[in-house]
Amino acid sequence: YGKDYKEIIQAYTKLTGKPIMPPKWAFGWSQSRGLLTNETLTRKIAEEYRKRDIPCDIIYQDIGWVEGLQNFEWAKDKYQNPKKMLSDLADDGFKVIVSQDPVVSQATKKQWEEADRKGFFATDVRTGKSYDMPWPWGGNAGVVDFTNPKTADWWGNLQQIPIDDGIKGFWTDMGEPAWSNEESTDRLNMKHHLGMHDEIHNVYGLTWDRVVTEQFEKHNPNQRIFQMTRAAYAGLQRYTFGWSGDSGNGEDVNDGWTNLANQIPLGLSAGMGLIPFWTTDISGYCGEITDYDEFAELYVRWLQFGIFNPLSRAHHEGNNAVEPWLFGEQAEKIAKNAIQLKYQLHPYLYSYARESYDTGIPILRALIMEYPKDHNTVAIDDQFMFGESFLIAPVIEKEAKQRRIYLPKGDWVDYNRPDMKYSGGTTIEYPVTLETIPMFVKAGAIVPKSPIMPYIGAVKNAPIIWEVFLSDKISQFTLYEDDGETNDYKNDRYSTTAIESQKIDNTIKIEIQEPKQNDFKTEDRNFLLKIHVSENPNNILVNGKTLKKLEANAIF
Ligand code: NOJ
Repeated sequence: YGKDYKEIIQAYTKLTGKPIMPPKWAFGWSQSRGLLTNETLTRKIAEEYRKRDIPCDIIYQDIGWVEGLQNFEWAKDKYQNPKKMLSDLADDGFKVIVSQDPVVSQATKKQWEEADRKGFFATDVRTGKSYDMPWPWGGNAGVVDFTNPKTADWWGNLQQIPIDDGIKGFWTDMGEPAWSNEESTDRLNMKHHLGMHDEIHNVYGLTWDRVVTEQFEKHNPNQRIFQMTRAAYAGLQRYTFGWSGDSGNGEDVNDGWTNLANQIPLGLSAGMGLIPFWTTDISGYCGEITDYDEFAELYVRWLQFGIFNPLSRAHHEGNNAVEPWLFGEQAEKIAKNAIQLKYQLHPYLYSYARESYDTGIPILRALIMEYPKDHNTVAIDDQFMFGESFLIAPVIEKEAKQRRIYLPKGDWVDYNRPDMKYSGGTTIEYPVTLETIPMFVKAGAIVPKSPIMPYIGAVKNAPIIWEVFLSDKISQFTLYEDDGETNDYKNDRYSTTAIESQKIDNTIKIEIQEPKQNDFKTEDRNFLLKIHVSENPNNILVNGKTLKKLEANAIF
């Protein structure tokens, strides 16, 4: 209960727990594919990203990475030297996340027999033996019973194998647990340690995610977990992030426009349901991509929305590659710009990540969250706020020439053309080309940005670029920073830097406070100010001092 949704979600966070804070690099770009499950391809993709100068932080490996389902060992014929692969990739700034499924196939004899003997599987109430699940990947699998407390250490030791090799986290898949025939009721014969399957079904995924995270923390003290899931339950945010699963593009992969549109309300619902760290499968997951030129437009539009998903992952089924350079030169250029924008906005995004951790309020948020009194926002599910300052209206129509956008009351600046200003409380028709991501920023917003980097943290001592959109009211932003890797942020080891701006008559006043460094020292770096003005200012005061006036471009 609360007077508005922000209050409600904070109360719900108190009740069900704070979300885990992702590592800093989790907010970079990530690449995946169903059959991205071998060393040669992984190395090739990594190399291509760096060669083309497209930022990327994470490469996923889908479930085919394992030798046996699920023994957490690298498939020998696919990975020549996984440890070396991981360390080479790490040297180049890449983090690898691998998939895990909650089942053990009978064909993975050693692990299956051990789990069967020790009672780590759900049993079949008719026979008293381990339940023989018909799916996935060939069938005859035991369903790991995470409601049995004894299972946790066994699973924790197994999943530690690839962590010790150098992977950085997991993607917990099929945790419904997934069934080949969703209508079949045979699963109701499963008995778990804590109850029959009808009682456990909804919480099953959560019980698994809990084990994955708790065991990760036990084995890797003070390291932040990366874990992303598609099936869980209220409270999941304590253990995992989310992705929307197999969205599917319908009969014809090129017809996925409705499914792209559906992903926006999904992301907003995720945020409102306390899954602040989330991604769609950029490109749509299901469907064979046969004509890359034809698919390019949908890919570009999906990606232009996807970069605002806090976790941004391009993924598609099977061997359908969805790397940005496969869709033609124009698409690659647009994709690169969009991904670069995500990296530029990282300091802004990461500051909001901390807010999500503290309060549960998501970064990608429905308009109603920011404008609860504006009834026009209630039904808007094709636009969203990205933090408090940005309003984003992704283009989700094929061959769109314009986009209808509602701007709530207030003064808005077109982020693509900062000389264009709008008075809100109105709907506009906004012209678009394939390059355009309609983005509006509130007058008065201060946005901390980073230079573009190949991966998060690649450049040391990088400046913070404060982009200031003036208003005659005082506005402010507090930049949040921490080490990005450990759990020290929970013990208040972080730094905050507050900045304020105001335009009075034609004088611009900026106040930047000394960083408050609570046991965490930020890197030495410069601050750059990028101030948008519509007329030549009389005076710019920074912390009370007048800035010296130079000729245009004098210092460059
Ligand atoms: C289902 C997941 O939703 C999908 O993302 C994944 O690629 C497949 N399982 C294969 O592991």
